[in-house]
Amino acid sequence: MTRVFSGIKPTGHLTLGNYLGAMRRWAAVDQHRADSLFCIVDLHALTVDHDPARVRRLSRQAATLLLASGLDPELCTVFVQSHVDEHTRLSYVLECVASDGEMRRMIQYREKAARERARGGSVRLSLLTYPVLMAADILAYGADEVPVGDDQAQHVELTRDLAVRFNQRYGQTFVVPRATRPAVGARVMNLQEPTSKMGKSEDVGPGIVYLLDEPDVVRKKVMRAVTDSGRDVEYDPEGRPGVANLLEILAACTGGEPSELGGVYQSYGDVKKDVAEAVVEVLRPVRERHRELCADPGFVEGVLRDGAERARAMARPTVDAACRAIGLLPAA
Ligand code: TYM
Repeated sequence: MTRVFSGIKPTGHLTLGNYLGAMRRWAAVDQHRADSLFCIVDLHALTVDHDPARVRRLSRQAATLLLASGLDPELCTVFVQSHVDEHTRLSYVLECVASDGEMRRMIQYREKAARERARGGSVRLSLLTYPVLMAADILAYGADEVPVGDDQAQHVELTRDLAVRFNQRYGQTFVVPRATRPAVGARVMNLQEPTSKMGKSEDVGPGIVYLLDEPDVVRKKVMRAVTDSGRDVEYDPEGRPGVANLLEILAACTGGEPSELGGVYQSYGDVKKDVAEAVVEVLRPVRERHRELCADPGFVEGVLRDGAERARAMARPTVDAACRAIGLLPAA
């Protein structure tokens, strides 16, 4: 059976981008057709300036939202990265096949490091090695597929390189995974800055739709979205990124093709109204289920406990094999 692994980082409140680019597909497709694991990658949240209590709170909230979005613990494994030591064990082993140059070339590292430096802060070493830990997340489970949005494609490519390199040097150990992306919604843009990704960590509120935003807040954010100076409603991501983003979101929420939806509208105002309602409807069941789950925190805790146990049992044989292959003496 195909093995699927994906993760989400508790660095901010989850967004419509996370949902359309990744979470929705995990729940609607992946968990039904594959042996799937979905992970709240809390260790990754420590790579930039962070507040410990907030990371804990966001980890719990992310787990609750994953279940609210339809992940079913009977069908898939949901767990927290730091509960399974195999991730950090394997990460160190993979650091021994990765080079510092290849880490410094990662786009997300360069962007985030530049942001930290501009704030006058220092760059944590863990930010540089982040992609190796991500590779360990994936390779520990022998995942065939990694369903992610476009921004993670380079990290999955690096994971493939590390897996191939390790297998060539030390013998066949890892499955070489591939990224899968949604047909529509792989790159949802910020509503106020449609040339930048809608990212949870950026915290520029008005351009970001959060999964837990009230319907009226969603409507306001969509109605105030920046559009372009033209008037024709055309799908042209290069020339008219604002309206293209709205059509993309609409298509992701309602089905259909962004390029075809363009022809249906006479004005930007009409597009925005339909986008706002489509987003409110897509998020409604998630918010409702989230409210129910918040009333039952014991359930979420139990899911994470069982999930970690299952994940540990799945990861251990591969991580042990990798440790042996690279030259470590097994514990007696
Ligand atoms: P993260 O937490 O930034 O995002 C989680 C998932 O949401 C997708 N995504 C988007 N998709 C479309 N449009 C957007 N604006 C948007 N923003 C986010 C991301 O592509 C991702 O699929 N490094 C990863 C977490 C991670 C991981 C892993 C993922 C750690 N280990 C192993 C897969 C496998 C990250 O920061 O995702």
